Amino acid sequence: MGRVFYFCSMTNQDDQFKKVISHAKEYGYVFQSSEIYDGLSAVYDYAQNGAELKKNIRDYWWTAMVQIHDNIVGIDSSIFMHPTTWKASGHVDAFNDPLIDNKDSKKRYRADVLIEDYCAKIETKIDKEIKKAEKRFGDAFNKEEFITTNPRVVGYYENIKTILSRMGRSLENEDLADVKALIEELEIADPVTGSRNWTEVKQFNLMFGTKLGASAESAMDLYLRPETAQGIFANFLNVQKSGRMKIPFGIAQTGKAFRNEIVARQFIFRMREFEQMEMQFFIKPGTQKEWFEHWKEERLKWHLSLGMGEENYRFHDHEKMAHYADAATDIEFKFPFGFKELEGIHSRTDFDLKQHEEYSGKKLQYFDHETKESYTPYVLETSIGLDRMFLAVFSNSLVEEELDNNTTRTVLKLPSVLAPVKAAILPLVKKDGLPEIAQQIQDDLKWDFNVVYDDKDAVGRRYRRQDANGTPFCITVDHDTLEDNTVTIRHRDTMEQTRVKIEDLSKIIKNEVDIKSWLKKM
Ligand code: GAP
Repeated sequence: MGRVFYFCSMTNQDDQFKKVISHAKEYGYVFQSSEIYDGLSAVYDYAQNGAELKKNIRDYWWTAMVQIHDNIVGIDSSIFMHPTTWKASGHVDAFNDPLIDNKDSKKRYRADVLIEDYCAKIETKIDKEIKKAEKRFGDAFNKEEFITTNPRVVGYYENIKTILSRMGRSLENEDLADVKALIEELEIADPVTGSRNWTEVKQFNLMFGTKLGASAESAMDLYLRPETAQGIFANFLNVQKSGRMKIPFGIAQTGKAFRNEIVARQFIFRMREFEQMEMQFFIKPGTQKEWFEHWKEERLKWHLSLGMGEENYRFHDHEKMAHYADAATDIEFKFPFGFKELEGIHSRTDFDLKQHEEYSGKKLQYFDHETKESYTPYVLETSIGLDRMFLAVFSNSLVEEELDNNTTRTVLKLPSVLAPVKAAILPLVKKDGLPEIAQQIQDDLKWDFNVVYDDKDAVGRRYRRQDANGTPFCITVDHDTLEDNTVTIRHRDTMEQTRVKIEDLSKIIKNEVDIKSWLKKM
């Protein structure tokens, strides 16, 4: 195998990201919703391969979070909930984004995102300084020492910290005038037009409203849930009692959530309809710090088990907490457009259960049979966007390789456990009984794995097609198969080909794609 280029090192970030989006379309992963009507902004459909990849990510999460934990159970609550839910949870009053309009371009932005993007540019300067110093000092370069002692870099870090703390404080105190003042002081311009002619900063509620009921008079105002978590809180006692769960225990679920995002861009990174995978872990008050650390570590291990590079993850502790949290961190991933939030880990205290107690008038307490005490549990939450995880996996896997014979190939090096199609079965030619054997192999394997049969084009082209599709194995049936019941199995990443018995195929594929062996790496 020749040299490997990740797209990001080849081209600038925008080009790389465009390649990710067009590859996702070309290979049947993600389509724009309602494309025949020119699409709907920030709404996407998952196609034949995308739906499989999404399902595999969901299964990987569910196995790790629910199946292998005997104190975590899964539920599937509804998207519609009684509207008081959202009053109690604080979403009606506080689930807002600060928005700002540019008077000249008439474009609308999230004020906090403009400021964060400004800080990201300072981070780019830091990266440049590090790269320069790396070159200058060679092997003697000590990154840790450099970033803590180099005056310019230290200054950059301090600048970022000052800006983000001020923004956090102002948002916390609802001091939107100061958020605008900060934008002006930093001379932040409209990224599209360069204009600095800004309106005041206003709050904008992100929940979508809808109606339940047959007639306009009797219809009830509802919201589409903006997070799946509230379905878990509202069912806390039902699950605890019916499952005889003892604290500490968790309730998990995956499902759709909806947010009227002001700035919905970056493909499936920020969508208006998306899917979350959330787990609420109910604990004894006072133990939240240790559980926060525990789940930070566990969740990072889950990500690392997929082998997408330790350097592509980092924690980002929040300066500005959501209205319900006393500690929060993001697991950030290096997307094609830089490090961004992939998963949130929040210490939600007893905020939600207490609020639901107050608004519903029902007790939501846990009775500890050993100490004979009742209390409102604290909650540790892990919350990851399935679509965002999809984008992380997909963009990280898309690679361009230069081969020894001076050709290149595009490979989607998806972790094989997540790959939508595990193997393609290819008869070398469409005659001499080879297609029949290939079809028989497909019929046998399809009960355990998602496999495809492909007999179009020369075998080399078929290999390339499967590489670009992310299929970890190609199984080729040739004339020797007729003699000895063996086939060639080709590995996507190494392109290595080995001769194996047909009867061993299932075992070989299972060894590579089995969730258990991947999760055991945690
Ligand atoms: N229950 C907590 C909660 O919803 P969040 O940080 O707002 O917390 C959790 O969202 C995760 O959901 C995020 O880390 C992200 O992966 C995903 N997410 C949030 N908004 C999203 C959007 N508009 N499009 C896609 N994913 C989103």
